[in-house]
Amino acid sequence: VLKLYLDCDTGVDDALAIAYLLATPSVSLLGIGTCNGNTSAVQAARNTLGLLDLSHVPDIPVAIGEGEIRRGAAEVHGDNGVGGVALPHGGEPDPRTATQLLRDLVRDNPGELHILATGPCTNLATALTEMPEISGLVAGVTVMGGAVRAPGNVTPRAEANIHDNPAAADAVLTAPWPVTLVPLDVTMQHRWTQADQAALRAGGTALHEALADMTQSYFDWYEPELGVREIPLHDPLAAAIAVGELTPSDAPQLPLRVDPVGEVREDASAVSRVRVVLALGSPGGPVILRRLLTRNQ
Ligand code: BDR
Ligand code: CA
Repeated sequence: VLKLYLDCDTGVDDALAIAYLLATPSVSLLGIGTCNGNTSAVQAARNTLGLLDLSHVPDIPVAIGEGEIRRGAAEVHGDNGVGGVALPHGGEPDPRTATQLLRDLVRDNPGELHILATGPCTNLATALTEMPEISGLVAGVTVMGGAVRAPGNVTPRAEANIHDNPAAADAVLTAPWPVTLVPLDVTMQHRWTQADQAALRAGGTALHEALADMTQSYFDWYEPELGVREIPLHDPLAAAIAVGELTPSDAPQLPLRVDPVGEVREDASAVSRVRVVLALGSPGGPVILRRLLTRNQ
């Protein structure tokens, strides 16, 4: 079983990633930290707790991260982060901060914990500052973010998660731990159609219905961007790569640096090497959908 800490800014596609992880039997989701990004860290925690309630796993700790809001993405993810869908209230957040939760999980599971970040890298960077030895104590780090050779989505060259906190992203990408980056280069290639949305809804539980409902505004946002009614699966795809269900077909080790405006650049002088997923050998969307439809009730 793969032990996982998820750091997210829940978010429509973060919500799909959470549901995917909960539906994957080989994954033990030990804790979730939230950060400012698509919405505030507090709202992201509310959304996450509501999803856990709908998923009948209310005991997974959800801790709120610190740090200021730089973006908010109401136009993409709705005013509440999850496309305006009303989720149940759910439980209370963990009293620890997200970085305290992460540090505790690393200490309790030395060498075994995988970290997946589907939001800005704020909490991970703070954890590196507070506990530098953390880089030698985790099994791996997967980050959804960046536009390495493909265009960005907030500026011509910057992707939202990296753009929100470039200094934190640079700290995470250049730390001496094994990082896999899942950038827009690959996530824009793996999309869901309205047929996938309908199949998700047909899953029949309140969770399936809520997830299908929240993708509605996501489709509305992406349709004029893409010229077709499809949505990219940024965060679920990173989740599926993190847990080893999807295998990259092109993932070079690149020296990367993040510049102050949030653009990820290949830079030969960067010390560490980051595994960058540029392509997958198989379509990712159907795998993720299948997992969501076969979740344990
Ligand atoms: C990333 O930014 C957020 O809007 C999404 O949740 C995803 O993590 C894509 O650029
Ligand atoms: Ca996200």
